[in-house]
Order: sequence, then C-alpha cells, then structure tokens
Amino acid sequence: MRTPMVAGNWKMNKTADQAKALVTELLPGLKAAVKVERVLCPTFTCLSSVHDLIKDTNIGLGAQNLHWEASGAFTGEISASMVKEFCDYVIIGHSERRQYFGETDETVNKKVKAAQAAGLLPIVCVGETLSENEAGKTKEVVTRQLKGGLAGVVVSDPAKLVIAYEPVWAIGTGRAATAQDAQNVCAIIRAELVSLFGKANADAIRILYGGSVTGANAAELFGMPDIDGGLVGGASLKPDFIAIVNAAN
Ligand code: G3H
Repeated sequence: MRTPMVAGNWKMNKTADQAKALVTELLPGLKAAVKVERVLCPTFTCLSSVHDLIKDTNIGLGAQNLHWEASGAFTGEISASMVKEFCDYVIIGHSERRQYFGETDETVNKKVKAAQAAGLLPIVCVGETLSENEAGKTKEVVTRQLKGGLAGVVVSDPAKLVIAYEPVWAIGTGRAATAQDAQNVCAIIRAELVSLFGKANADAIRILYGGSVTGANAAELFGMPDIDGGLVGGASLKPDFIAIVNAAN
C-alpha cells in the first residue's frame, strides 16, 4: 500500500508574514488529515517561519529546488545540506525550472543524487508541453525525463522517492488532465520505474499528478490506480488545499 501524498508548491508567492498567516489558517485541516503525507513547499525565505509553525506536527516541509554542489562559490544557490536544516522534502525538475532556468535531465539527475545523499525525499517532476502532447510525444518525453533524471539513482527505500507527473499545459491553466488521461501517463511512468528499479520498488514509489488540481477534481484524479496524490500549485495557497488533502485522506 502506498501512503497518499499531497504537496503544496507555493512557487514564488508569500512573504514570511503572509506564509505564517496561510499556515495558521490551514493548520487545523492539515493536522486532521492523518492518512495523507502532507507537505508544504514555500519559498526559501519562508522555510524558517513555516518550519517553526509545523515543527510539532507530522506535516512535512519541502524546498522547491536545491543545488547539487555541497558548498562554495555558487552565488545565489542553496545546497542540499542547507535545505536539510529545515526540510525533509525537495521538488526537483519542475517544468518552470526547466522552462525558465535551464534545468535539464542532467541537472535533475545531479540534484536527485544530492538530495538523496543529504537524506531529503526528492519529488521529481516530469511532463510534456502542449506541443509535445499534440504531437503524440507524451510517452517519449516522460520516459526520456525519467531515464535521464534518474540515471544511476539507487532506490534503497521506495517510499523516499516520489515522481510528479505534471503536464505543462495543465499547470495554472484551469485545464486539468482528465483522470483517465492522467492515469494513462502515470501507468507509463510506473512501467518505466519497473524497468529502472524493479517491480517491487516501482509498486511502492508514489506518483503524484499536478496541473490545475482543485477540491472539485481531486477525488477523481486521486481515485485512479496509479495516482497517489497531488502536487498542487495555485490551490495550495487557498483553503481549497484542505479539500484537496481530504480527497486523498
Ligand atoms: O507544482 C505544481 C504545479 O505546477 C501545478 O500548479 O496547481 O497551479 O496548476 P497548479
């Protein structure tokens, strides 16, 4: 049995004071959903204050990125061990980082290994663009992203690696994939995980869906056999996040 996970990716939103107000508002609902692994992923500058608010709960804290180098002259970057001071989770390879900040399957791979070495749980994002989807290349794209991003990665605990399938055309558009279409791609992802890590590991690795998840569509998406929860952007900044968490509970 895979424990469902719902992670909120706040992206570049909220000052520390705003973050505190949001967490305070969400906290009762988050605390109550005990069957779901709940994770908040604020900006780096909010990690400390969110950490202090949730430290006595089993709600997880994640970063949205890290750098693979351990330390040194890398202005503006944050290492895995620095993230680990506050977090147990990290999002890696989000499509916005691939699109705007030059993230590649190779850098994703380095970051996944750095995260694992620091004891962080990487949430590794894959997903096709609209043009790739329309060209019928979804399977080819997600397979390439998985093979490249996870090359040489060792899975010692399959509960400590999570894949997020996020079709780029569904992110922030209000146009989520249908549950069946999302399931079809998540099944492709799980099949690729079988060839990378063996069936027992693949059966235990969580696969999340992300892209315009709301309280209204979450239950149908999370009810699909290969979808183990969600990576939520816009709706994670609102009370609707609790409805989404409850849909996985
Ligand atoms: O990481 C989250 C995804 O990019 C989904 O964002 O829920 O705003 O569509 P969204």
